[in-house]
Amino acid sequence: MTSRYAQVYRDWQSDPEGFWARAAEAIDWSRPWEQVFDATHQPYGRWYPGAECNTCYNAVDRHVERGRGDQAALIYDSAVTGTGRKITYAALLDEVNALAAVLTDRGVARGDRVIIYMAMVPEAVVAMLACARIGAVHSVVFGGFAAHELATRIDDAKPVMIIATSCGLEPGRVVAYKPMLDKAIEQAAHKVSSCLILVRPQQPHELVAGRDIDYAAAVAAASGRKVPCANVKATDPLYILYTSGTTGQPKGVVRDNGGHLVALAWSMGAVYDTAAGDVFWAASDIGWAVGHSYIAYAPLFIGATSVLFEGKPVGTPDAGTFWRVIAEHKVKVLFTAPTAFRAIKKEDPKGTFIGTYDLSSLQYLFLAGERADTDTIKWAEEKLGVPVIDHWWQTESGWAMAANPAGLGMLPVKYGSPAVPMPGYDVQVLDDAGHPVKRGELGNIVVKLPLPPACLPTLWNADQRFRDAYMAEFPGYYKTADAGIIDEDGYIYIMSRTDDIINVAGHRLSTGSMEEVLSSHPDVAECAVIGIADHLKGQVPCGFIVLKSGVTRAAADIEQECVALVRERIGPVAAFKIAVTAKRLPKTRSGKILRGTMQKIADQEPWNMPATIDDPAILDEIKAVLNARGIGIPAG
Ligand code: COA
Ligand code: AMP
Repeated sequence: MTSRYAQVYRDWQSDPEGFWARAAEAIDWSRPWEQVFDATHQPYGRWYPGAECNTCYNAVDRHVERGRGDQAALIYDSAVTGTGRKITYAALLDEVNALAAVLTDRGVARGDRVIIYMAMVPEAVVAMLACARIGAVHSVVFGGFAAHELATRIDDAKPVMIIATSCGLEPGRVVAYKPMLDKAIEQAAHKVSSCLILVRPQQPHELVAGRDIDYAAAVAAASGRKVPCANVKATDPLYILYTSGTTGQPKGVVRDNGGHLVALAWSMGAVYDTAAGDVFWAASDIGWAVGHSYIAYAPLFIGATSVLFEGKPVGTPDAGTFWRVIAEHKVKVLFTAPTAFRAIKKEDPKGTFIGTYDLSSLQYLFLAGERADTDTIKWAEEKLGVPVIDHWWQTESGWAMAANPAGLGMLPVKYGSPAVPMPGYDVQVLDDAGHPVKRGELGNIVVKLPLPPACLPTLWNADQRFRDAYMAEFPGYYKTADAGIIDEDGYIYIMSRTDDIINVAGHRLSTGSMEEVLSSHPDVAECAVIGIADHLKGQVPCGFIVLKSGVTRAAADIEQECVALVRERIGPVAAFKIAVTAKRLPKTRSGKILRGTMQKIADQEPWNMPATIDDPAILDEIKAVLNARGIGIPAG
């Protein structure tokens, strides 16, 4: 099939508003928009002002009304517990209604924020939808974050309620959420008076009198009740999702209701070639943008079935789990991070498990979240015999900025490239002074404003931070903070971040926030954290510490304390396991730490002596410290 991509992209270019007006016809609106796009709204404009809609109605009710009540909306498959359940659209509607009743009874109202701190259980999606139903704004916090991170989010979002599970389940380990929840509530300046706790059998939870409500009992008591869908503005926030910024203060990415509905519904057909009735599996976590967009929302917007998987690609119980899930639930599209495939490939390089399952339902594998290395793509192509599609996006965009759009007919694959920009994204490459670079030259990847529907309209309560972070450096453009290339055929290549974000197993982490934690250790004078290449996780953090003069304690003990401190303050997901003591850190004459050069040394990449370096000998010391510890592999 020849690809319709070029025509569709041109359609958008020639009439962006007409394009997004036509896409919006797939959505049920309770009130039409006055304008498709209002460019006068700060910071850069708003989609569908004047329109009203309800995200939950579009995800659930309308499918029940139109005869899909008996179809599975969610398939919960828990490889960690060996359990699961299918939830039809009709059953999902009942569960969402009951929870919405519990929330409204407790005074949660339109515009109020609700934090969701839950494991990968269907109730987490029910909670998101129940908030959407009543017009409350949810903010899901990933379970791998520790109390301090949760407290930071509580203080920023100021929720009226927290919905939590008593625990998360990691292979061989029950992660009790209650102590973290209690600590976070205690630490936060904003006081949360009400928590709804889903008690899981693996972790009993003593309810705090006057604060905690038992989820199961409350929902059972509200069973059968109906709560009407609130008519919210298309421009009202649906959710806030915090993501790593360049400081310890995470950025509250805002997603609105209308634009999100339109772009995500459009992407299901055009990008993923998925229609109503198909089974779609995003093997991610609802704590991340992928999980929000493609576990909880987009498949439901179009009446597809979404798989919610609790487990890991390996170790729950083996490297065949993904194939079991695909075969058992007849998954058509799998979407995950390359790391998951690297983990499977490592355990089962020959793909022996693959042959033991019927994978005939699978038509596509989509990868995103980090650079997809060619070895992994080729391995997956060969073993699965389906197209393996790398696509590029960010928490901020909420959907693919570049992809090989399966639903429009695939373009030729170029390894190392997530292919071409999606309609809505005018992607360009600029040099540091803001001038376009020549085709094929490396530069800053930017998107000409306005961003398309579903992209963040702003940061939560922080328009100025939004402008500073994304709009100030290249006026008229959104700064992606990715560096890369666009080739002569218009294919985009993402090479690296231009800020201090690193990508660890597809998880976005800020080295700056880890440095803040290390600096708080009483014996640490200064520090630098860099991301170094890792065969499995893509990158892992490596922290260099310089001890205060006069410290006589063993450096190894202090390093261990630093590792423990990051785990305690940020959480296990930071995967911070390497702290090394250095005598000094390499700096420019103006005092800027040369993190980029340190990273190249660790990854055994070629590097040039920075012209502005203060003392070149320090780089030899860094190399010696790394060599002594056997740290660093050549970047692949
Ligand atoms: N709650 C509590 N702890 C969690 C957690 C959660 N929801 N998720 C992860 N953790 C913990 C892990 O147990 C691990 O702890 P440890 O240091 O005690 O081993 C730590 O955080 C790091 O987790 P992770 O980076 O996931 O490493 P892992 O070794 O457990 O698993 C992979 C490695 C590759 C199997 C795993 O990262 C994976 O499946 N990745 C798929 C990619 C993905 O989901 N990306 C999301 C964006 S698409
Ligand atoms: P997150 O906000 O967690 O989705 O992380 C977004 C960042 O992950 C991007 O800015 C990129 O640096 C990186 N990323 C996401 N997808 C890809 C991809 N397909 N190829 C390379 N990098 C990617």
